[in-house]
Amino acid sequence: MERKICILGGGNIGTAMAKGFVRSGYLKPSDVIITRRHPEYLKELEKEGYVTTRDNNYAISHSEIVIIAVRPEQLERLIDEIKDSIDENRHIIVSVVTGAAIKYISGLIGKKVPVIRAMPNTAVSICESMTCLSYGNVSGKKKEKIYSLFSSVGKVLEISEEYIVPATSLCACGIAFFLRCIRAASQGGIEIGFHSDEAILMAAQTARGAASILLESYGHPESEIDKVTTPRGCTIAGLNEMEHNGLSSAMIKGIVVSYNKAMELAKNNGK
Ligand SMILES: NC(=O)c1ccc[n+]([C@@H]2O[C@H](COP(=O)([O-])OP(=O)(O)OC[C@H]3O[C@@H](n4cnc5c(N)ncnc54)[C@H](OP(=O)(O)O)[C@@H]3O)[C@@H](O)[C@H]2O)c1
Repeated sequence: MERKICILGGGNIGTAMAKGFVRSGYLKPSDVIITRRHPEYLKELEKEGYVTTRDNNYAISHSEIVIIAVRPEQLERLIDEIKDSIDENRHIIVSVVTGAAIKYISGLIGKKVPVIRAMPNTAVSICESMTCLSYGNVSGKKKEKIYSLFSSVGKVLEISEEYIVPATSLCACGIAFFLRCIRAASQGGIEIGFHSDEAILMAAQTARGAASILLESYGHPESEIDKVTTPRGCTIAGLNEMEHNGLSSAMIKGIVVSYNKAMELAKNNGK
């Protein structure tokens, strides 16, 4: 089986995926070709054995799975550059580009090549991504290949394409939302006596513990909160103060605004 994949667009998410696929043991660095127009910024990956180049057509000709990870406004020019190298019997195209529909990408390529949409997040670099996949019309072995590739770097959920934009807000943007929560907790920690590095460690590990409880038990957050909130205790006092100041409301509103913005961007791009 051909193991090589190429990632066209070695920016934040492109390099995060490259690192994750190797860290998971799914691929060797030499099996990952990563491109950008300024490949000098990929020197660190090159030193680790990844293949780096600015030549997208070279990358495609040596790969079976082609992951597109450029920004929405860069997509048309990229596809125009590569479409002649795409072989509908050999390649599987995976796009992580926000707002670019499968139909739109297939139309730009102009061939009946399988196109799958993926929405990972930057935790893919440490194999802790929440990746949503929308397979369109792709099935069988090709679908399984992409499922197992992304399963190697975290959890995978299959969703229909109309939910990819909501998944972008909850999972891809979500990394930033939860990081900001951890930063806020650490700032509280500094105010009550800890050094910044201690406070961040304590907040981040506590956040990981909370997330792991849910992921391992498939439980509901409220039933786990009930186990921590002693009547008249300090947890419920802190929690209620946060809620009086709009904690849940801020998160819900932020996710909805983020979703609306993502929808607007998708529409503006005509996709
Ligand atoms: N960041 C995330 O957490 C995340 C998560 C899920 C999905 N996404 C989506 O993934 C896409 C990329 O996001 P990003 O945050 O990684 O953006 P980014 O850091 O700006 O990365 C885009 C990369 O594409 C390269 N590029 C542009 N045109 C190219 C071309 N013709 N050939 C090869 N490389 C090219 C750019 O490098 P050069 O300028 O050197 O060419 C740049 O490194 C976006 O559509 C975004 O919505 C991002």
